[in-house]
Amino acid sequence: MKYNFDEITERRGTYSLKWDGGEFIKSHGLTERYDEETIPLYTADMDLPVPQPMIDALHKTVDHKIFGYSIFPEAYFEAIQQWFLKRHDWEIQKDAIIYSPGTVHALHVAVKAFTNPGDGIIIQRPVYPPFTGAIEGNGRTVVNNALVCDEEGYYTIDFEDFERKAKDENTKMFILCHPHNPTGRLFTREELEQLADICAKNDVLIVADEIHGDLIRRNQTFIPIAKAAKRADHIITCTAINKTFNVAGLHCTNVIIPNEGYRETFRKTLGMHLASPFTITALIAAYTEGEDWLDQLKEYIDGTIEYVMGFLAERMPKVKTRIPEGTYLMWLDFSGYGLSPEEVHDRIYNKANVLLEDGGMFGEEGRQYQRICLPSPRPVIKEALERIAREFEAENGN
Ligand SMILES: Cc1ncc(COP(=O)(O)O)c(C=O)c1O
Repeated sequence: MKYNFDEITERRGTYSLKWDGGEFIKSHGLTERYDEETIPLYTADMDLPVPQPMIDALHKTVDHKIFGYSIFPEAYFEAIQQWFLKRHDWEIQKDAIIYSPGTVHALHVAVKAFTNPGDGIIIQRPVYPPFTGAIEGNGRTVVNNALVCDEEGYYTIDFEDFERKAKDENTKMFILCHPHNPTGRLFTREELEQLADICAKNDVLIVADEIHGDLIRRNQTFIPIAKAAKRADHIITCTAINKTFNVAGLHCTNVIIPNEGYRETFRKTLGMHLASPFTITALIAAYTEGEDWLDQLKEYIDGTIEYVMGFLAERMPKVKTRIPEGTYLMWLDFSGYGLSPEEVHDRIYNKANVLLEDGGMFGEEGRQYQRICLPSPRPVIKEALERIAREFEAENGN
């Protein structure tokens, strides 16, 4: 089936955090302005309908009319195993799979299960802000191995710094974001292997958040760290249909823990969590019948990114960015305008009435940046960019 991703689906009035959550968003300091004209492109949630086979399967579940406690059928695990084998050449043992009602939840569980208050946990800023929340919110310490950005806006790992920090006795865990949100980096096999080696040597447990792993450019390859590593018994990987198939509201993360001891510890801290019949149904349909949709979606997102690159080059050439290798996010460097981050924020959020995410939320390193989420119909993206460009062209002559 051919999907028309240009079609706009009204999301206001559907309890959408992105489109109905103005007061919540304001109270969290993301913006001062939020009204019916706001275009919110801040949360990693698509404004695009999910694959038709998922909708059909969910209808069938509704039509049953009873929504009791559910078990995970064999088909659930098989669907996960087949998907990762086929799409990423990664073999997962059924026993290694543990369901969690969300990825951020799984990160909190891992931090609590495997570290003690005060322990150091490495992250690579600028990075998805809830990593910091999972660490500091549980009384642990952030150890920042900041990514290094070159002239071309390409981020790489400072391995010397990483190794020094991993060697510190107080460092117990590394939370990897791969593909990296917000920089869009897909790490190479060599980089992943080196990270895994250093952590193995220094007894640092890796928790890999790989939930953007399916959402990469069509000319790129995603390699799970557990596959790149020489051994995976010190690696816990979070996978999810939440991002790939736009079902964050169904809370479906699967944590892959090959090490039996770690698995039991994680399970104990997690407690008992059954998934809803909708979640189970959605996962099976997504992973067994959603490939065609995903391939079309990737093509569409590649096209949107190309559009944004062209638009910026023409209308806002002072914004520096590059095509991300993975994720549907773009990381925009506004430093070329010579404005303060507060002034950039004011023009975009208050004047253009577009809601992005201030780079400073991802760490001090991101202060000059804005993150934009692109999985919306292209007409929405075009309108948002037009509005933003007007605010920067008006006084600043591009
Ligand atoms: C890297 C990363 N991890 C986790 C999440 C949230 O995942 P979940 O909704 O499964 O908690 C996001 C959402 O944007 C994300 O970008």
